[in-house]
Amino acid sequence: MAAAGPEQIALHATFLRDSITTHIQTLASAAEKENSSSTEAREISVYLRTRPLLPNEIERNSVNAAVVHGDDLILYKPEINYKGPRISPIVTQADASFGPEDGNQRVYQLALAELIPLTLGGGLGSVFAYGQTGSGKTYTMSGMQELVAADVFRLAEERGGHYEFKFAAFELLGNDVRDLLDNRKPLKILEDKFGNVEVPDAKDYIVTSKDQYLQLVTAAAALRATESTLKNDTSSRSHAVYRLTCRNTRLPSVKEGTLYLLDLAGSESTRDSKEHDKARLLETREINRSLMTLKDCIRSRALASTRSSAHIHIPYRQSKLTLLLKDAFELSAPRHCRTAVIAHVSPNLLDASHSANTLKYVAPLKIPPPTTAPRPDPDDPQIWTHETARSWVRSKIPRSAEMLPNILVREEEAGLQLAAMSEEEFMERCLSTGVIGEKKAKAVYLAMWKLVVDARLRRRERETGGGKVKVVKKVKPEAYVRFTDERVEDGDEKTRVLLESHSSWWDGEGK
Ligand SMILES: Nc1ncnc2c1ncn2[C@@H]1O[C@H](COP(=O)(O)OP(=O)(O)O)[C@@H](O)[C@H]1O
Ligand SMILES: [Mg+2]
Repeated sequence: MAAAGPEQIALHATFLRDSITTHIQTLASAAEKENSSSTEAREISVYLRTRPLLPNEIERNSVNAAVVHGDDLILYKPEINYKGPRISPIVTQADASFGPEDGNQRVYQLALAELIPLTLGGGLGSVFAYGQTGSGKTYTMSGMQELVAADVFRLAEERGGHYEFKFAAFELLGNDVRDLLDNRKPLKILEDKFGNVEVPDAKDYIVTSKDQYLQLVTAAAALRATESTLKNDTSSRSHAVYRLTCRNTRLPSVKEGTLYLLDLAGSESTRDSKEHDKARLLETREINRSLMTLKDCIRSRALASTRSSAHIHIPYRQSKLTLLLKDAFELSAPRHCRTAVIAHVSPNLLDASHSANTLKYVAPLKIPPPTTAPRPDPDDPQIWTHETARSWVRSKIPRSAEMLPNILVREEEAGLQLAAMSEEEFMERCLSTGVIGEKKAKAVYLAMWKLVVDARLRRRERETGGGKVKVVKKVKPEAYVRFTDERVEDGDEKTRVLLESHSSWWDGEGK
């Protein structure tokens, strides 16, 4: 069977347009599908977005091959077999899909808005823009930045203004990390013995207003690597990482909240590789590797949080990108984390095979809810009744603070609400008694989180049948710090082996 390129297939433009129109009409006449999306908070959400055809695409008579239908996105992928050209619709489900008529405001409301209070409250929000070059990642991300800037400062003000914000921006190009607010100064991503990941010399600017924030974003975006490629001369082969941190000045012991916005490198990274020199090939491989690791990390985390049984370890140490975002993936991170992936699909029929790859990339990130109820774990705060939650709080505090259980777990609340509360709110409720100090409040909070994390890990162990990770080779904890500082070139077996043994050591015995 002869394979045909999309260019040849696109010659059958009339046939393609007709098939797509017929399929869309069939769908439209079918009953509106039931809206099954639950209101339950999800830790990982996947969104799809397709842009309008661009003027130059319309000029070239391009066919629109991506259509949004409810929350799904349908991609019409051309194929040729012995019977001639045909179209296979690829239907991908997501938390929501956005079409050409959906503006950034709608994307923001559905995908990002809830991350702002999360960040102010001491949590970690991460948003990834994924997709082929030219699919609209930067368009989405710069739109999100404007809305984030407006929302963050408005909400902070509404809550009393007791927050200090800092902004930093990095670029990850191959194995290099560069400061986008300091003339692309090389940076290092380091992890210390205690598991804290830091970018020590990064320029972190204090920001006090929306305008100042946006000025920094613009300055950073302008510095992004833009070395030309065959495909698009402003294509970005780097990941851009924008980090907003938020410190609570009224309650300094609340963990710093963080919001990461990531404009990822083009997902078509193996493109035109014959034109690349060796350095570019290595860089390309690193982009590929980091995107694959990212997918593995998000999927593993999603599996773990939906109580599915297939969980394995989360390999975030395999790329700088995922190492930087470690807290978002690690089960034992003692904070609320939310991740949103916005996958971008070019509507152009000529891009259909890249678009199909993008959909293939995100499809496994959507984990269906478990079919069987998890075995109840009495030590998991999330299933505690109102009474159990209150008596647990009582057991943690001195007699003098007898009002605290009622304040921390209100009449209508149970363990689930206690565990879902932001650190800031938890602490504020504790302090409102006037009897408990900040230190004690923090200790109660951490004790509760320890139970949440322990329950999570127990569940994982149970469901993976003990889940022992094989230890390849023992490495001293101190050695670990050295690794993160080292370059791992693709194809260099030695460093790779070291990398694997490190992760095995850590996941197997380090806890
Ligand atoms: N939703 C959209 N509506 C209108 N134009 C868009 C949209 N998304 C992208 N574009 C336009 O498409 C082009 C490519 O988008 P861009 O964000 O640069 O892609 P990427 O960052 O993925 O390479 C730009 O000219 C951009 O303005
Ligand atoms: Mg871009």
